[in-house]
Formats: sequence, structure tokens, C-alpha cells
Amino acid sequence: MLFTTLVVSLGLLQASALTVPTRSHGVREVAVAAAAAIPTLTLLSDFQKDNVTASWAPGHPKVWGQAEKKFSIPTPPLPAGVDAVFTEDGKFLLLTNVTDTDVIRLDTGAVVSTLKLKFPSYGTHTSVSAAPGGEYDFLVAASNFTWDDKVTQQRLSQDGVPVGPSVDRPGFFSNGGFDPTVVDGDGKRVLLAIDIDDVHVYDLDDVNSSVVTLTGHTDSIQSIVFSPDKKTIASTGFDGHVKLWDAATGTLVHDIPPEDPEQAPDYQNWLTRFSPDGKTLLYSIGSPLPEVKLVQLNNLTDVVTLGPFSYWVRSAEWNSDGSLLALGGFPWLLVLRSSDLAVVQEWRVDTEHWEEVLFLHWFDKDTKLRWSYLNGTEMYDFEKNLKYRWGPDEDDVPPPGWVVLAGDWFPFKSEGWFGNFDSDSSVRVWSLPE
Ligand SMILES: *[C@@H]1O[C@H](CO)[C@@H](O)[C@H](O)[C@H]1NC(C)=O
Ligand SMILES: *[C@@H]1O[C@H](CO)[C@@H](O)[C@H](O)[C@H]1NC(C)=O
Ligand SMILES: *[C@@H]1O[C@H](CO)[C@@H](O)[C@H](O)[C@H]1NC(C)=O
Ligand SMILES: *[C@@H]1O[C@H](CO)[C@@H](O)[C@H](O)[C@H]1NC(C)=O
Ligand SMILES: *[C@@H]1O[C@H](CO)[C@@H](O)[C@H](O)[C@H]1NC(C)=O
Ligand SMILES: *[C@@H]1O[C@H](CO)[C@@H](O)[C@H](O)[C@H]1NC(C)=O
Repeated sequence: MLFTTLVVSLGLLQASALTVPTRSHGVREVAVAAAAAIPTLTLLSDFQKDNVTASWAPGHPKVWGQAEKKFSIPTPPLPAGVDAVFTEDGKFLLLTNVTDTDVIRLDTGAVVSTLKLKFPSYGTHTSVSAAPGGEYDFLVAASNFTWDDKVTQQRLSQDGVPVGPSVDRPGFFSNGGFDPTVVDGDGKRVLLAIDIDDVHVYDLDDVNSSVVTLTGHTDSIQSIVFSPDKKTIASTGFDGHVKLWDAATGTLVHDIPPEDPEQAPDYQNWLTRFSPDGKTLLYSIGSPLPEVKLVQLNNLTDVVTLGPFSYWVRSAEWNSDGSLLALGGFPWLLVLRSSDLAVVQEWRVDTEHWEEVLFLHWFDKDTKLRWSYLNGTEMYDFEKNLKYRWGPDEDDVPPPGWVVLAGDWFPFKSEGWFGNFDSDSSVRVWSLPE
């Protein structure tokens, strides 16, 4: 879980984009808006149930000042690397800036340890997962776009204190951190890390070896995911190819090349996902034409194209039974019915700012969908036809160099709360509605 920051678009007006070339033609872009008030937004299309437009839940929209808890870390002007993650048991929050990670006990707010893992100045993504014996593995992927990226792994005790030395491994989290980072692959806790155009599959419990390396892409990989049965890994990136790999051996199983060979050098793909039954593969093309493709894996010529859209789609999630597919764009959100691909919900905002819907996530038995964009984190309850928002107030002027962190999401359904990582580099904790 837990990915944040970056790779979110550039704001228009008064905004400057920091665009850094990769080794070939791909770019990563970071939103760097000048100090500006929260933009004025107009809702063009909203969620509906039985033809009744959704309404705000009582007390919503909520603004930052109403958060129950707030944690911050000193940060140099953005876009310096900053990120935040919670342990899955809800015990600790790890807040990272360019020099330090504060390990904070959530119940007391006390900083129980400070890790100094020495990160480059830019592009920091963190992740934490449960390790054997009640311990934790904290991962920091750090990059300054020279592509000597590394993922540093630090084991932490049950008390949040470092255990043993940290370990560096070549690579970076995929797609700026939009993909799952640590997964249980075939019974192993593995880390998927990209090293420009190779994917490394590392065994988190064996610091000395990697499981396999997937070699064959010819430009920077943007997205890597395991199939639901963990037997296959799908990858895609700026060479426009989608590749399916045998996860155990690293053998290439299928290669889906760019559809139009004449335009092959212009292809940039952003995202790939498996449907919950593992039968459909989704991939998102950013250029030459922003489209989403749905491929039947038992018949690779059975392809449905969604779009073209106004811009790329970098957020997509099926609900758990696969009957609905949510897609996030600029800034809009569509929910499609899988059986006939009809659009059953459309949420759309008009803004002169270039904003993106990210971190789409179904939860609570698929009765709720949440997403984030510049205006905060929102949620829709399909049963109650109610909307929720936790976002900045009109008086919340973000700091100079405002980066669209867009509210990372850490659901703790059993405990009825969640934390959000917001565009002012603070983590806020809120109660979840019943
Ligand atoms: C953006 O957030 C502000 C503050 O919560 C809210 O007043 C405004 O209605 C929001 N805009 C849209 C389009 O939701
Ligand atoms: C919603 O409105 C459409 C078009 O007016 C109508 O065909 C449909 O029956 C309505 N659905 C419900 C559940 O009222
Ligand atoms: C990072 O956070 C630490 C711990 O809170 C703080 O002491 C340090 O000054 C911060 N670093 C920068 C560069 O702001
Ligand atoms: C990136 O980090 C490397 C060391 O990891 C350093 O040599 C290089 O100067 C840094 N580049 C930038 C642009 O900060
Ligand atoms: C990794 O290698 C080092 C040095 O060879 C060795 O001391 C250590 O035990 C190894 N760790 C594992 C988990 O195999
Ligand atoms: C594969 O899909 C294509 C396109 O939908 C279709 O024409 C073809 O009959 C399918 N092949 C099989 C074996 O089902």
C-alpha cells in the first residue's frame, strides 16, 4: 500500500514544471505550483443513485483544521523528497524528509526513533510491511533522477527501533509509487523495484539475493504488478510494450507491442493492472493517444479500447468481484460496469488547474470508493448516496513549491480511522464514518 508524492502533473498558470529526462525520451514530471490559494473548482458531474445526485454527508466537506491529529516533519522547500506511511497494525507512523525518518507511535505521538538513511534530495517514496516475528521492514526508494536509484531496507523491532544495519538494493518503486511495492509472491515477501528498464524481484527476507530480474524493456518501466495468483508479473513503460513474465523464472511469456508500429517511438504507457479473476489485463497508454486497453489473456487479440481521453489515466482499480472498474483522470472519475463497459458513475470537475485523480480505492465490501486530487481526499458511499471530503480550507494557503501529494490513503477499517498525507507535507488522522 502507500504511495505518495510526485509524478503528478504540472499546474498551469504560475506553476513551473520540473521535467527531468530519463535516459531516453521519457519524462517524469513533478507538480510544482507557486504559492497559490486553493483553486476555484466547479463540479460538472457527480455521483448519483436512482437518478438522485449524491449529497454531502453530515459535517462534510471537512477541512484540515478539523483533523483529530496532525503530524509534520520539517521539510526544505518542495519538491524535496518527503513521504509518510503507517504500519498496517496502525501502531506507527513513519515520516520521512530528505535526511531523516521519524518513527512515531500513533497513540502517544512520541518519536521512538529517528532513522538517518541518507537520501538524495528528490523523489522519495516509502513503504512499510510486516516482517516475521512482529517486526517491520521499512523501505525508502530515493532518486534524484540520475538513475543511480536505490531502495534502502531497514528492519525495525516491534518497538519501532532499528534492528541491524540497513541494506541498499538497486532500483526504485514503480511509477512514482502508484503500484504495490511489497507483495507476497508465491509465499515470499518480495519487493518489485525498477532499475530503468529492468525489474528486480527481491526477497525481503534474504538481503543477499534477488529472486529474478526481468530484462527486455527498452525504456523506463512505469508499472509492475503481480497477477492475483502470483504466477505472472505484468510490466509496462515508455517503450509502449506490455510484457507478461513468469514470476518464478523471469521468462517472458507474452509481449504486447505498440499497436501502431509506425508510431512506436512515441508510445508511453503508464499503468497496468490485472482484473481480480486474473483474466483481463488493463493497460493505460499516455501517448500518442491517451487510451485504456482491456485485453483478454486467453485471447490476446480480444482487446477493447476505452477513450481516447483528454489526458492519461494513472489510476485504475476493479472492485473485489471485478463487476465494476474505476478509472481516474484529469480531474474526473468514471465507474464502468464490466459486463458491458457502460459508464455507471461519472464525477467530473472543471478547473483551469491541471489536476489528477489518484489513489482510487474500493473498500468496505466495495460499498465505498475513495480518491484524491488537489482539493483533498473524497469518498462516495454507494449505498447511502453520500459524499465525504477531507481537504484544505480556502484559508489554507499551501507552502511555496506546493506539490500535489493529493492525500495518500491508509485505511484501517477495523479501527474506524484513516490517515491522509496532504499537500502541506502533514499527516492528518480522521475518524471514518460508520
Ligand atoms: C474544494 O474544497 C473546498 C474546501 O473543502 C470546497 O469548499 C469546495 O467546494 C471544493 N470544490 C469542489 C469542486 O469540490
Ligand atoms: C432515471 O432516469 C432515466 C432517464 O430519465 C430513466 O429512464 C430511468 O428509468 C430513471 N431511473 C430510475 C431508477 O428512476
Ligand atoms: C528532517 O527532519 C528532522 C527530524 O524532524 C529534522 O531535524 C531535520 O532538520 C529535517 N531536515 C531538513 C533538511 O529539513
Ligand atoms: C544524485 O546523487 C548522486 C549520489 O547518489 C550524486 O553524485 C549526484 O550529484 C546527485 N545528482 C543531483 C542532480 O543531485
Ligand atoms: C548475507 O551476506 C553476508 C556477507 O556474506 C552474511 O554475513 C549474511 O549472513 C548473509 N545474510 C543472509 C540472510 O544470507
Ligand atoms: C479472439 O478474439 C477475437 C477478437 O474478439 C475473435 O475474433 C476471435 O474469434 C477470438 N478467438 C478465439 C479463439 O476465441
